Amino acid sequence: MDADTSPLAAPPKDPAGPAAPGAAPAVIAGPSAGAKPRLFLTRRIPDPGLALIRDAFDVTGGEEDRPLEREALLRGAAGTDVLLCLLTETIDGAVMDAAGPSLRVISNMAVGVDNIDVAAATARGILVTNTPGVLTDATADLAWALIMSGARRVVEGDRMVREGRFQRWSPFMLLGHDLAGATLGIVGMGRIGQAVARRGLGWDMKVIYTRRSGPLAAGDIPVGARWEHRESLDDLLREADIVSLHVPLTPDTRHLIGARELALMKPGSYLVNTARGPVVDEDALVAALRSGPLGGAGLDVYEREPELAAGLADLPNATLLPHLGSATVETRGRMAELAALNAIAAMRGEPVPHPVNPEVLT
Ligand code: GLV
Repeated sequence: MDADTSPLAAPPKDPAGPAAPGAAPAVIAGPSAGAKPRLFLTRRIPDPGLALIRDAFDVTGGEEDRPLEREALLRGAAGTDVLLCLLTETIDGAVMDAAGPSLRVISNMAVGVDNIDVAAATARGILVTNTPGVLTDATADLAWALIMSGARRVVEGDRMVREGRFQRWSPFMLLGHDLAGATLGIVGMGRIGQAVARRGLGWDMKVIYTRRSGPLAAGDIPVGARWEHRESLDDLLREADIVSLHVPLTPDTRHLIGARELALMKPGSYLVNTARGPVVDEDALVAALRSGPLGGAGLDVYEREPELAAGLADLPNATLLPHLGSATVETRGRMAELAALNAIAAMRGEPVPHPVNPEVLT
């Protein structure tokens, strides 16, 4: 299906809905009258975002779909008003300085902003925006693809068939585990964590979760769901059959799951990471997959992406995907659109759908 022709690719005006409750009605001053503001695009993005920015800005860059080399990023950013970037580019103070005082907005086509030095942007009065909401379902679906793959050894089975190792049905071949009635542990019960938990209702799973801001309000828990808050990550790790990570990468969550935490997990349990690679100490994970207690892991993200920790690729009990969390035609179209809408609103002095550092506007 082509992004331009799919009816699903024609999203609503603000596909993420209104800004989060409490978000400031963020506005930023527009460029000098007459001229279109300049936008540097670090990498090609899909329509309708591309069409929107071409209409509203004098766009440079974005001709190719590959990570931009550092020198090209510094050169391209010079003198621009808006930088529209993706998670493959590191936007630090040096990039902001290379852009110079004209830079007003950094619009990230991602929900995670760990590729941007937000404090450096705030110090320079630059607005940072992101694209939450529109990728929740796609990412939750992919977490479930990894859960299913691990529980039922889907990738191992595929490999066996392709490699000609499938002889006949066997009562003992590639046995997995039932999901029905299992306990799903969600670390980080935000939008995506909750979407993963909701999908667990189909398997009548008990869900236990940690959440930075404490237990969910009763009204946020679906009727009939068994969702229980755990104060401590250690307790969750000791109790869950499947642990799925949904925290942003921050200094506090780097190596949140290390050797100590992996050792607490139940024998035969399964770890899923669709959040950010450095949340897990990948070398420690390889050790725990080799000698226990883990039964398996499903990873979409890596600590030193795109490199893998030594030995990871050799482990049959790890399902490894190339950072596909938001990779659907529909979702990528909505992310690009929202990144464009954030940039356009900011430069027009209109309320910005998703400001990350709205304090620069006040
Ligand atoms: C994808 O990984 C995102 O943060 O949007």
